[in-house]
Amino acid sequence: MSLTGKHILSSDLFDRDELERLFELADLLVPVARGEQVTRVLEGAVMASLFFEASTRTRLSCESAFLRLGGAVTSTTGTGVTSISKGESLADTARVVGGYCDLVVMRHPEVQSIHDFAGATNVPVVNAGNGAGEHPTQALLDMFTLHREFDRLGKSMDGRRIALVGDLLHGRTVHSLMKLLTRYEGLTIACVSPAELGMPAELLELAAARGHQVEVSDKPAIALREADVVYATRLQTERFADKPVPYSDDFRIDRALVERVCTADAVIMHPLPRDSRSGSNDLATDLNSDPRLAIFRQTDNGIPTRMALFASVLGVVDEIRSSLRTASWYRPAFTGPDDAPFYRR
Ligand code: NCD
Repeated sequence: MSLTGKHILSSDLFDRDELERLFELADLLVPVARGEQVTRVLEGAVMASLFFEASTRTRLSCESAFLRLGGAVTSTTGTGVTSISKGESLADTARVVGGYCDLVVMRHPEVQSIHDFAGATNVPVVNAGNGAGEHPTQALLDMFTLHREFDRLGKSMDGRRIALVGDLLHGRTVHSLMKLLTRYEGLTIACVSPAELGMPAELLELAAARGHQVEVSDKPAIALREADVVYATRLQTERFADKPVPYSDDFRIDRALVERVCTADAVIMHPLPRDSRSGSNDLATDLNSDPRLAIFRQTDNGIPTRMALFASVLGVVDEIRSSLRTASWYRPAFTGPDDAPFYRR
């Protein structure tokens, strides 16, 4: 299947072959993402980034990925500064913006929004999060992270135990991730959440139908045992304003819990942002210097993954290899002071 010209609205679009092709390309692009090499395959192309909901890493990493490919970016954030505040429909906005660019990345608080938008333009649209629906590019970078972490650990993807923890009802990243995980073989997927915030039934059924072992639990201390991957998520309080369901202390993934129940080579992930306020019971900062914590390797992986996707959607993949040049500007050996020694730039 070719991704050229396609809208990327759901992670459903990617089967195992497509994922492996994207990872090979993303591996090739890691030195470009890290500022060691340069490519200009998208020179002259314009990306429009429309974020009608809060974002830090998705917007900046999509924009950075497009810029690293040599393209240019135009962007708007919030609805207050666009004509949507004057009553313009998303369909009209889509048709207009499509005339200004070659690819659109959009985030919006409503699930239906991305479909209405993409239906009104032939310019490829990439879903950067539609309410509590999906977040396919996050799931791609999460899978790319697993590909790289398992490669380093000498493990294969098949047969692993994956624990998804937290607000699995409203967390769009885990919805898209479930669909991609099911493309592999013989996984045990433990969905660990307070009962009110469980993974939607159709996603549990999809995983079971594709031959995976599915466990549903509200006890992180038990479900995390022997997990190859712990994927924590934030309570999405903005999606259930009227009755917040606080995590109990049991959901706090901190050093004490990890030391007690996780294996020495577990991979600990989170789409971020993590809620670091006291009492939030999210992934704790006392794990920052633990090399099992892969969250910043994960954010770094967002750049090559999104570069691979944009290059595929705009049909320039075959030009990349011959276009690579060495970069000469300064970069530190480690991006973060807590970066694990195996993770050199
Ligand atoms: C997530 C999102 O926006 O869905 N963030 C992200 O894009 N990495 C997760 C979240 O907000 O909790």
